[in-house]
This record gives sequence, C-alpha cells and structure tokens, in this order.
Amino acid sequence: MNLANQFILSAIQLLPRPVVKPFAMRYIAGEELDDAVRVVKVINSKHMMGTMDVLGENVSTREESLEAVRECEEVLHSIHESHLDANVSIKLTQFGLKIDKEFCHSNVMHLLEVASGYKNFVRIDMEDSSTTSDTLKLYERLRSGGCENVGVVIQANMRRSEEDIQKLISMKANVRLCKGAYIEPEDIAFQGKEEIRLNFLKLLKMLLDGKCYVGIATHDDFLIDGAYQYIQEMNLQKSDYEFQMLYGVRIKLRDKIVADGHRLRVYVPFGQQWYAYSIRRFKENPQIAWYVFQALFSGD
Ligand code: FDA
Repeated sequence: MNLANQFILSAIQLLPRPVVKPFAMRYIAGEELDDAVRVVKVINSKHMMGTMDVLGENVSTREESLEAVRECEEVLHSIHESHLDANVSIKLTQFGLKIDKEFCHSNVMHLLEVASGYKNFVRIDMEDSSTTSDTLKLYERLRSGGCENVGVVIQANMRRSEEDIQKLISMKANVRLCKGAYIEPEDIAFQGKEEIRLNFLKLLKMLLDGKCYVGIATHDDFLIDGAYQYIQEMNLQKSDYEFQMLYGVRIKLRDKIVADGHRLRVYVPFGQQWYAYSIRRFKENPQIAWYVFQALFSGD
C-alpha cells in the first residue's frame, strides 16, 4: 500500500463512526438478523450459497461471548426456519479465546451441537497471528473429539501455513484458503503481492492433492484462473471444492463463476459491530477510503 493510502486509512480511524457507516454498509448486510436473512435469500435465488457471520471480535467478558453464542444459535435457527442454503462463520476471539481457552472450546462445542441438530456446518474464521496456534489447536481438538461439521481457515500470507496444512491434510480438514486480511510482520508473513499469490496456489494444490474439501476464498482473477486450471487438470468434481467471496465485492465475477458451473458461497456479515470488519475491507479497496474522506468535507 502506498504512503498516501496508508495515511488515509490511519486518518479514517479517527473519523466519527456516522461518517464511516454509509461506506461500511456496502460490505455488510445490515445490523439485524432479518437483514442478513433477506440478503441470503437473494443470494440463494442466484444459485449461490451463503455463510452468515455475526460481526464481533476480541470480546473481553464472558457475558459478551455467551451473547455471541446465543446470536449464532439464532442464526442457525433462522437458516433452518427460512430454508436458507447457508452455514455460519464465527471468530474464536468472539467466543472467548482470549478470556479462557476451555470456555471458548465449550462455547464452540455447544454451537456445533446445535448446528449438527440442523445438519449444518460452522466455519472458524482465522484472525491475526496472535490467535493462529490456538485456533488450529482448538480445531484439532474438535476434530479428534469427533466433530465433523466444522471447518477452519488458512492464510496464504503466513509462512507457517505450509506446515499447518500438512497436519490438516492428515485430518481431511475442510479448509477455507484466503490471502490473509491482517497486517503481519515480515518474519512470519510474506509481504509481496506476488509471493502471496504463489503461496496461495501452492497451498491450494497441496490441499486438493490431499483430498481436502477447499473453500477457495478470493476475488483475485489470477488465483481464480489458477484454481480453474487445477480443477480441470485434476478432473475435480463440483463436490470437491467451492469458491467463496465477500458480500459487496466483485458481483459480476461472482455471477461468472456460477455461470461457469462452479459452486460459490458468499460471506454475509451483519450486526452492530461492523467497524473493525469494514476497516479491513477499506484496506483492500483504498478508493473507498478516499470516498469516506471526501464525504467528510463535501458537506453531504
Ligand atoms: P485482492 O485483495 O488482491 O483483491 C482482488 C481484487 O478484488 C481487487 O483488485 C479488487 O478488484 C477486488 N477487491 C478485493 N477486496 C475488495 C474490497 N474490499 N472492495 C472492493 N473490491 C475489492 N481473511 C482472514 O484473514 N481470515 C479469514 O477468515 C478470512 N475469511 C474470508 C472469507 C471469504 C469468503 C473471503 C473472500 C475472504 C476472507 N478473508 C479472510 C479475506 C482475505 O484474506 C483477503 O483479505 C481478501 O479476500 C482480499 O484478498 P483477495 O484474494 O480478494 O485479493
């Protein structure tokens, strides 16, 4: 990211939230569960699946974690009631990972039981590098405890990911592969666009060769073309993988992937805690960040 964009992103974080909110809403279904249900119905009508995310992360009290679990349960009930083709994505720091790992484990176990009652699935998002080892350990524990309806995420920018994937392959894990949304230091993470891309393709090949079900989560044409090539060369079935994209990003590309005959899932975040998520999306699209800043001075 160039210096001007870095400056504008830092400056945005000083702005009042009402100024930022209209721009953030491009990436968010709304503040209420009903908003997300409405969005997923539209997505399903376009032959795409959804994954619903109650926004929130890094909670500091047990009460907040339990509230997040309750909200995710409500999402699972709504998916069932409204006959949606969707699952749920969660963040472990929202479920209490930084408060008490045992508490977090039991919260996730509880949600998986509810999901299992509906024959549904929960994806554990990957957060910044301070959580990677604990997230993967918790995932391993869930799987060795017999939980099958759970998946995890691997970030291609992380140098450790190749080693992590070896373990996940031995578990036949269900893995979402993405570039990684957090700024990480050079000693643990690749920094260059091209090296992250190449690592993404390398890890994707490893996962597919290892017969893992992969959620190919990217909006990058180069990576989508690379994935198409593997799918063809390896003669993969539709049920071996899916593409995944974020709500509000590259809608035409989404339609094209589905028209090309692939399964695609849209990540649909909603809720009151939209701020941190939106800032990560602005970082990937500095043009939006500039719009936010201009709006402040335009008097609109
Ligand atoms: P890149 O950022 O290079 O974008 C490729 C192109 O897509 C851009 O040139 C632009 O055209 C468009 N684009 C991308 N972002 C945009 C935006 N915000 N607004 C407008 N256009 C945009 N990360 C993580 O660390 N942990 C996780 O659990 C997840 N989960 C996850 C789920 C899903 C379904 C997706 C798609 C992504 C994630 N991510 C994530 C985020 C991921 O790590 C990464 O930060 C973003 O997907 C952006 O990377 P791309 O591969 O899209 O490439």
